[in-house]
Amino acid sequence: MDISSTPPAPKVIHRADYQPPEWLVPEVTLAFNLGIEQTRVVATLKVRRNSSSQVLRLNGDGIAAEKVLVDGQPSNAWRMDGADLLVDLPGDAHEIAVATAINPKANTQLMGLYASNGMLCTQCEAEGFRRITFFPDRPDVLSVYTVHIEGPKALFPVLLSNGNCTGTSEGADGMHSATWRDPWPKPSYLFALVAGDLVANHDTFTTMSGRKVDLNIWVREGDQDRTHHAMQALKDSMKWDEEVFGREYDLNLFNIVAVSDFNMGAMENKGLNVFNTRYILADPDTATDADYDGIAGVVAHEYFHNWSGNRVTCRDWFQLSLKEGFTVLRDQLFSQDMGSQSVKRIEDVRVLRGSQFPEDSGPLAHPIRPDSYQEISNFYTATVYNKGAEVIRMMRTMVGPERFRTGCDLYFNRHDGEAATCEDFVKAIEAGAGIDLAQFRLWYSQAGTPRVTARIAHEDNVATLTLTQEVPATPGQPSKQPMVIPLRLALFDRASGKHSGEQLVVLDRAEMQFAFPGFAQAPVLSINRGFSAPVALDAGQSASDLVFLAARDDDPFARYEALQQLVVQHLVAEVAGGMLCEGDREAGRDAIRGALAAVIADPALDDLMRGELLILPGEAYLSEQFEKADPAAIRAAREGLKAWLGTALTDQLVALHERASAVPYSLSALARGSRKLKTQALVLLAAAVPELAARLAASQFDAADNMTDRQGALGVLCGLDTPLRAEKLGAFHTRHAGEALVIDKWFGLQAGSFHPKAFEQVKALAGHAEFALTNPNRVRALFMSAAMNAGVFHRADGAGYGMIADLILALDPLNAQTAARFVAPLGRWRRIEPGRAALMRAELERIVAQPGLSKDTFEQASKSLG
Ligand code: BES
Ligand code: ZN
Repeated sequence: MDISSTPPAPKVIHRADYQPPEWLVPEVTLAFNLGIEQTRVVATLKVRRNSSSQVLRLNGDGIAAEKVLVDGQPSNAWRMDGADLLVDLPGDAHEIAVATAINPKANTQLMGLYASNGMLCTQCEAEGFRRITFFPDRPDVLSVYTVHIEGPKALFPVLLSNGNCTGTSEGADGMHSATWRDPWPKPSYLFALVAGDLVANHDTFTTMSGRKVDLNIWVREGDQDRTHHAMQALKDSMKWDEEVFGREYDLNLFNIVAVSDFNMGAMENKGLNVFNTRYILADPDTATDADYDGIAGVVAHEYFHNWSGNRVTCRDWFQLSLKEGFTVLRDQLFSQDMGSQSVKRIEDVRVLRGSQFPEDSGPLAHPIRPDSYQEISNFYTATVYNKGAEVIRMMRTMVGPERFRTGCDLYFNRHDGEAATCEDFVKAIEAGAGIDLAQFRLWYSQAGTPRVTARIAHEDNVATLTLTQEVPATPGQPSKQPMVIPLRLALFDRASGKHSGEQLVVLDRAEMQFAFPGFAQAPVLSINRGFSAPVALDAGQSASDLVFLAARDDDPFARYEALQQLVVQHLVAEVAGGMLCEGDREAGRDAIRGALAAVIADPALDDLMRGELLILPGEAYLSEQFEKADPAAIRAAREGLKAWLGTALTDQLVALHERASAVPYSLSALARGSRKLKTQALVLLAAAVPELAARLAASQFDAADNMTDRQGALGVLCGLDTPLRAEKLGAFHTRHAGEALVIDKWFGLQAGSFHPKAFEQVKALAGHAEFALTNPNRVRALFMSAAMNAGVFHRADGAGYGMIADLILALDPLNAQTAARFVAPLGRWRRIEPGRAALMRAELERIVAQPGLSKDTFEQASKSLG
């Protein structure tokens, strides 16, 4: 074999190898001379020895040092070690200055300093700062930053960085400059710079101690009117964090900038959050109700990081869940308080089951605090984020909100200004809330979703609950110990339909029994209420018990869950095949129809919750129920049930659509509920009576004065074989021409549709003039929707897998981070029936064989092959 074609062995970083920094950088000054194609940077670092080492390592990535000064003098006492710069330093404190030049326009990775629509902006988390200048680019090196920015005023009238603006000046030849100073020491990943032709929506907020804070949301001219919802969310977040967590903002200025080319949703840079436009811009004509909620949630999330992430940051990237899991919990609690508690909880659980459960049962499974990585960008996962939030939520459930708050206060007080660990957080909750979390810590180290069974036995007026748990093996973790699993439960009396109070039981051994006296007949078990633990539960309930709970459980999540479980059990039996005789199938369908009819008719339900209850379990969650799933059979069974239900409930659904259509647009819960119902009714009708559904959808589309109704109707039409489909797609495109975020929806709806020709449509759209591999939003709109659409991705001939693999290979050299995110769908092959599994594997093999693959994509693809 030709030696030069052997890829270098990937370097693996281990959590156990952590060493404190050898040198600290208490202060840094950055001087930028801006240009789209060339930006010059001079970084001046005050460094202080923190070990016996006489060599200072400054990380770099794709940059070159043009000049190095040590204590003000040109120096030759430096050398490169791979991408890093090493400087020999004899003393305990020195000043190092390094000059670099970078080309933002050529930066397609969107990490470091890059150009987007004529503006310049940065993204440094996790390791992007080293693409701007040489630095100890690790989160436990905290520095006070002073930033001088100079550039042509015509191109960059607005110059922003972290902290406060301490001076501006006008120079010769149309140049101008600004100086920013951030008084709070921070790690390099929180540095940000933005320069461009931007306008601000300005507002103010007065903090609990009476300090007035200037708030700005910076956007391109013309977009100001679409920032009001984000601004309201920001003010609500600031108030909520004071009231609920006692956390006050700590600068006089808070800037948010919206950019259209961004790898992620948003970034919490100190005092200068940078957002993907899709999480800032909204008006009724272009944003759906879900978009409005997404904006409020992300604005809150990034704001909350000011304490959980910035004031207390992470020691190393293995501790990522310390800031992300905690901040996701904080944004979830905020959204629960601002809207519907129960609907928000259901949505969060749906995300967990739809993305985190599959991750936890696949080749990329990892604990919320990983033990090793090749590329940290690959660990911004549903496990670190969403399971991380669930783990902290369990602590809160066990101690209650007041004691949890005391624990959080202790955590913030103990570690303010520090780079902390997950262990520090657990210790603070233990001490502050007064609970022993020794065994609970397993949630940080063991991967895999615990499987819990619950069975009720009844004898002599006593109900005995037997609980078992088992944590499945995951890569690198063949055997597991029992976890601490808090389960909220209630036992319903069959005769009265009531229970005598909820209890919390904690399952912390492989098997446990709990006795409940005082039941003349076996009670109906309602367990894991509110989804108190992120486990896969087999509660062994009969269909009639599930119907009982679906009609009356007073815990809204448990009521939803009973209905979901009723449908899951039915569809799993249907797909498993042969298990259902015609009579069983009819009985199962009838039970579901009865439960849904009751939901439609129940006057006590609000429409937001009613709409939620009418959504059938998703294909991803259904697939998880099988050792080896057949995606085509799952889709057929689920669509078959929808068609049957749509037929059985046609009149009720049409009436529902009519009633909901009469409610005028507003952002009230009532009006949002109507819109959710309206489209959900169409979804069920479309499977049963497509011509009627197409007509109703077309009139909903035509009458729509808001994006929720318009997108809902168009989504339904996209799945139908009707001339109205092309007509309304065309009308939508014309109406919203040039609106990037809406055109994203136009791509996404077609790629996600159940239309029989969806695959061909995706292929054609990839060649559309408005498709661009360089814009992550557009790439996700088309290809993530396609990869999540079983009808496209899981085509029996493997062409869907080939299409995603081609995308990964084409995108990898341009934007490795985004390319690597498309590997996971192919990585599910072990859980798919053998014919398709072989085709998926073959594509993964084709990917890893590609010379020059990024470490992002290599790590995901090689681990997926396993
Ligand atoms: N710190 C992250 C942004 C980030 C993620 C930077 C990965 C670099 C790599 C930010 O706080 C975040 O978590 N954003 C989320 C949205 C949030 C509401 C979960 C995102 O961008 O998806
Ligand atoms: Zn975050």
